[in-house]
Amino acid sequence: MGRKKISIIGAGFVGATAAHWAAEKELGDVVLVDILEGIPQGKALDLFEASPVEGFDAKVVGTNGYEETKDSDVVIITSGVPRKPGMSREDLLEVNKKIIESVVAQVVEKSPKAMLILVTNPLDTMTYLAVKKSGFPKQRVIGMAGILDTARFKAFIALELDVSVEDIQTLLLGGHGDEMVPLPRYTTISGIPLSQLLPKERIDRLVDRTRKGGGEIVNLLKTGSAFYAPSAAAVQMTEAILKDKKRILPCCVYLDGEYGLKDICFGVPIKLGAAGVESIIELQLTEEERALVSKSAASVKKSIAELKL
Ligand SMILES: NC(=O)c1ccc[n+]([C@@H]2O[C@H](COP(=O)([O-])OP(=O)(O)OC[C@H]3O[C@@H](n4cnc5c(N)ncnc54)[C@H](O)[C@@H]3O)[C@@H](O)[C@H]2O)c1
Repeated sequence: MGRKKISIIGAGFVGATAAHWAAEKELGDVVLVDILEGIPQGKALDLFEASPVEGFDAKVVGTNGYEETKDSDVVIITSGVPRKPGMSREDLLEVNKKIIESVVAQVVEKSPKAMLILVTNPLDTMTYLAVKKSGFPKQRVIGMAGILDTARFKAFIALELDVSVEDIQTLLLGGHGDEMVPLPRYTTISGIPLSQLLPKERIDRLVDRTRKGGGEIVNLLKTGSAFYAPSAAAVQMTEAILKDKKRILPCCVYLDGEYGLKDICFGVPIKLGAAGVESIIELQLTEEERALVSKSAASVKKSIAELKL
């Protein structure tokens, strides 16, 4: 039985860091692809040379083509332009649309059975584009956003309460934009509802910081966007798939009537395992939560319309 193959398209900050997490966790051999000559080769060789020090067995190769990606089990797509200060994720649509179209066509040709994990922004729209262009069943095309956004919410709660990040459970719905819908009502700390540990004003502040969490990092970095937490999140999805863990995770998936939404890729809790999206979990929502979800869905729909497919 050979090792699994994980291809990562885009060897920039998110892609190369995803390669690092995946190789270190020994999830499989890793192929890094980029259009820049030397960059994927150099980063892959450097990472492989770390393996005797860290003690992991995973081949890591870099390339400018798709031959080495043949028969990948999982393909993480990070190719595309990130935001700069003052930009919204939507500002990336035109340029990243062209990149995703060309990348998906080449990935699909070499790995017709792969699971696709989209990272490129605007995330929900690029996931939708990949669903349409790949021709893959909707269970095999999944966008990464909710794990990152809930990780930020968990991190802020842990800081506020001075407790372990491991003890926090939470959920989030919606598009990967400032209108995402963190769900304090579905948030517990070792089973204790968040509302018993923090007053509403402080929870509201953490929700607001979560919504703007991507922008906070962009404003600090000035030349790019977050990559440690995003790449860790994409690799958590990869692990759930390759180890058939059947994790319940918020991910961006194609909806066909769930949550009253159709023909949209949107963040919802799913069961993620070897078959990809094994089920979509529909939460009971209050009026207020439903209104927030509708608002987020309207802005994702608007962005999808701009693809002019
Ligand atoms: N979904 C999320 O939550 C999330 C989080 C962080 C970043 N992102 C997005 O991920 C993307 C990558 O971010 P980054 O920080 O790694 O950017 P980056 O600029 O560091 O890396 C992007 C890489 O893609 C490569 N690339 C461009 N066109 C390509 C093509 N046609 N084929 C192969 N490679 C190509 C570039 O050469 C570059 O190396 C951005 O769109 C960013 O907005 C999404």
